[in-house]
Amino acid sequence: MKAKYTQVAASPAGLFDYPTGKAGLETLGYDPEVLSAFPDQLFESFCGVGNHFAENNIKEGDTVLDIGCGAGVDLLFAAQLVGKEGHIYGIDSTEAMLAVAEQMIEKYRLVNITTSFVASEAIPYSDDMFDVVISNGVINLFIDKLKLFKEVYRVLKPGGVLQFADVMATEDLAGPLSVRIASWSQ
Ligand SMILES: C[S@@+](CC[C@H](N)C(=O)[O-])C[C@H]1O[C@@H](n2cnc3c(N)ncnc32)[C@H](O)[C@@H]1O
Repeated sequence: MKAKYTQVAASPAGLFDYPTGKAGLETLGYDPEVLSAFPDQLFESFCGVGNHFAENNIKEGDTVLDIGCGAGVDLLFAAQLVGKEGHIYGIDSTEAMLAVAEQMIEKYRLVNITTSFVASEAIPYSDDMFDVVISNGVINLFIDKLKLFKEVYRVLKPGGVLQFADVMATEDLAGPLSVRIASWSQ
């Protein structure tokens, strides 16, 4: 899994069965104003499967966590919404993806974004910290989903919102696909 996402940090081209990069963002209806305000290169490693921002759950001043933030495209969009009073935290298990996100943060001085490496379902933040938790194309990759959801519940403020988009199998996978872990991330 890590090998695949290390490759995605360079380019996701040909690695997914759905549109990625800027084409993926356009297909999902991401705000064209933000898309045109930054160079296309910034969006290259996007491999999410939904558009959190269509639901208007993120407000100015919010504290937001993105689980599996990858190269940081959703961090960038969320940062525009929370403004200077809010903060976005991104966690991911692939160093190469985080390195791309960190380059973006540094280059555009996005001081309201912080990223961290994680190696398990444990979320390295305190109880009741977040107004909104988002995750785009990631939860299906966690081995222990119950443990992760318990962690999300712990770090969300009372009344906070979990919003995630994911891929799921609607029927049993055929033959070798069912035992091939790479099938989870196609
Ligand atoms: C399909 S990509 C989505 C990336 C990003 N959310 C986006 O929309 O572009 C899946 C991401 O999940 C990360 N990931 C996979 N397993 C993880 C885990 N257990 N904890 C945190 N991140 C994980 C991968 O490193 C990768 O960056």
